[in-house]
Amino acid sequence: MKKIGLIAGSIQTESYAKNISQNLGMLLPSDFLPEIIKIDDLPLFSDHLSLDDIEECEAFRRSVSSVDGLCLVTPEINHGMPGCLKNAIDIASVSDNGSCWSGKPTLTLSVSTGPMGGLGASRDLKQVALTVGMEILQPSEIYLGTVQKMVNQNDILQGDAMTMDFLRLAITNLTKAVGGLDASRFAIQLNEKQLIFLDGEVTVGSCDFSLQNGMLTILKIQVKPAYRGRGVASQIMTRCLVFGSLFGLEIIPQCSYAQAFFEKHPSARKMLAQ
Ligand SMILES: Cc1cc2nc3c(=O)[nH]c(=O)nc-3n(C[C@H](O)[C@H](O)[C@H](O)COP(=O)(O)O)c2cc1C
Repeated sequence: MKKIGLIAGSIQTESYAKNISQNLGMLLPSDFLPEIIKIDDLPLFSDHLSLDDIEECEAFRRSVSSVDGLCLVTPEINHGMPGCLKNAIDIASVSDNGSCWSGKPTLTLSVSTGPMGGLGASRDLKQVALTVGMEILQPSEIYLGTVQKMVNQNDILQGDAMTMDFLRLAITNLTKAVGGLDASRFAIQLNEKQLIFLDGEVTVGSCDFSLQNGMLTILKIQVKPAYRGRGVASQIMTRCLVFGSLFGLEIIPQCSYAQAFFEKHPSARKMLAQ
């Protein structure tokens, strides 16, 4: 399964950039695995680092090197990208094998609570991204302005139809650039109450859920009869785990299929609500 690294240019706990990058992860099709690459604990780039700091940098370089593509989401501070993002890019631009960013298909987005969408930060980011060798994909002009109005109280992205189509196009371009088309690939949509698997326009299956106080309760998993026997329900459950992991949610399996899934997959039980 191809992996996409999600990097948000913010170290704030409550961050719109982090929030949008989690949601982009949920837009990836079923045969792609989103992975948050945190920049929060990186030291400042320098030739004089402690052993702990060196290990932190090495772990970050390994994470960047291990993914097949990237989504970089930057907020804007004083019309540029935040220092923490520039710092992270600098750290992974040097390794024994050169720049870890080199040749990575990358989507760049900017977010802003203002109407301009962080245009200055986006330009800044693209300039540096090119220098360190990222392969910047189209559309390269994605500016999400007044971002606070695009996410609901559960942090789920609810942009207007045009914005969502634009983001889906961007994600499609990323998956094409990364390659590895799986014959059983399904597109995924997330709304306030449902995770939906789509084959073109056809709804293949869905998960009804509720979200409250950091708990994701799985209410019902359904698969269209024509798609049964192809492991779709298991794929939907796997995406529920990804949802929980990206958004930091604990899981309550209420329906019998979800309960049986956790019986069969002991390693997933760490995600269960205590
Ligand atoms: C010192 C400072 C400068 C800022 N400069 C800009 C700016 O130039 N353009 C902009 O759109 N927002 C600006 N903002 C607003 C931030 O982009 C906003 O707080 C954003 O939510 C921070 O990103 P995060 O939520 O991902 O942490 C600024 C905020 C601060 C504190």
